[in-house]
Amino acid sequence: MIPAVVTFEEAAAISFGGTTALHFLRDVGKVQTGERVLINGASGAVGSAAVQLARHFGAHVTGVCSSANAGTVRALGADAVIDYKAADFATRGARWDIIFDTVGNVSFERSRNALNKNGRLLLAGGGLGHLLKAPFQSMTSGLKVAGGPAPERAEDIVELKRLCETGAYKPVIDSRFVFDRISQAHARVESGRKVGSVIVTLRAP
Ligand SMILES: NC(=O)c1ccc[n+]([C@@H]2O[C@H](COP(=O)([O-])OP(=O)(O)OC[C@H]3O[C@@H](n4cnc5c(N)ncnc54)[C@H](OP(=O)(O)O)[C@@H]3O)[C@@H](O)[C@H]2O)c1
Repeated sequence: MIPAVVTFEEAAAISFGGTTALHFLRDVGKVQTGERVLINGASGAVGSAAVQLARHFGAHVTGVCSSANAGTVRALGADAVIDYKAADFATRGARWDIIFDTVGNVSFERSRNALNKNGRLLLAGGGLGHLLKAPFQSMTSGLKVAGGPAPERAEDIVELKRLCETGAYKPVIDSRFVFDRISQAHARVESGRKVGSVIVTLRAP
């Protein structure tokens, strides 16, 4: 049942970014309270959910996004924000326990020196090349490198519903399109600039 605190549109958005972020942070990365987590692409659908969930799990959260979205990412709970046009997180001398890439431009080579011992590089946005190399990189570095598709599980949606009810998580909506403007909805998604999810409704509200 849709929680009273979210709209139908927000409920639809839970099933995309939220489930992916939950899978990578909780199940693959096994994020712990007090750990330092960096979310690359922190304003997207997966990224905006990841910022909120990492914060919920008690992590110190750094979001990487453009300066235009820095305020939004801070409001979602990020402790620090890095504008990727002004600085490269990987060459600042800082280190994180988890680097979660939702963009697809974070390689193991680029990020390994920005990971703590026992660090995890989580690749939601990585291509096939990154994924094929991940087991070997994990074996030889002492770090964990992991990607691949997140499962769609009913129990994860139920958990995200619970987090909506506690106020720990609120799906971010970029824009709404009625079904007959579906091509514009696709164009917005493909822009790579959306903040949260694009929602398509069957009827005008
Ligand atoms: N593994 C899985 O199961 C799974 C599931 C869902 C999605 N995905 C993948 O995850 C990725 C993210 O999906 P999404 O829907 O969350 O994407 P999205 O909403 O389009 O978000 C992309 C975000 O990345 C930011 N960005 C663009 N260039 C950047 C850069 N150079 N550095 C840092 N941030 C940058 C953009 O913010 P600015 O506008 O501020 O630049 C934008 O908010 C996609 O590749 C998708 O295919 C994987």
